[in-house]
Amino acid sequence: MTLSAASLALAPVSARADTAAVKRGERVVNEWCRDCHVREGETLDPDMAPPYSDIVAVEGRDRAWFEAFLKDDHFPMTTFRLFDHEKADVVEWLMDMQRRGK
Ligand code: HEC
Repeated sequence: MTLSAASLALAPVSARADTAAVKRGERVVNEWCRDCHVREGETLDPDMAPPYSDIVAVEGRDRAWFEAFLKDDHFPMTTFRLFDHEKADVVEWLMDMQRRGK
């Protein structure tokens, strides 16, 4: 084995797609965010929030923007808070969607 666990742990997280985190993030979104956000590819219902595919396509939406967004309260979503590790996973999921360009 050429790559030790230690060298993997030192690798910058952003340098490799963390597929486990992406999967966890998707579960969080499916559980907590779909009441209001339409699914990717669905027509935007005026009563619903935009799909994430539109949200990640907006200019300037980088990792830092999403991290800051998830730190603040999300109006009108005031009834619950995500744990920090869930927020991190959601950001991975969003970044993955942005990379795939859809
Ligand atoms: C109670 C309804 C509701 C829920 C639940 C909800 N959202 Fe939203 N969200 C909205 C609305 C409405 C908007 C659009 C208005 C706005 O931009 O503030 C929005 C916009 C956003 C935006 C983009 C903001 C922008 O300025 O473009 C992000 C990112 C987002 N939501 C993330 C999430 C995540 C992640 C979850 C689940 C943890 C979630 N939302 C759950 C209602 C909701």
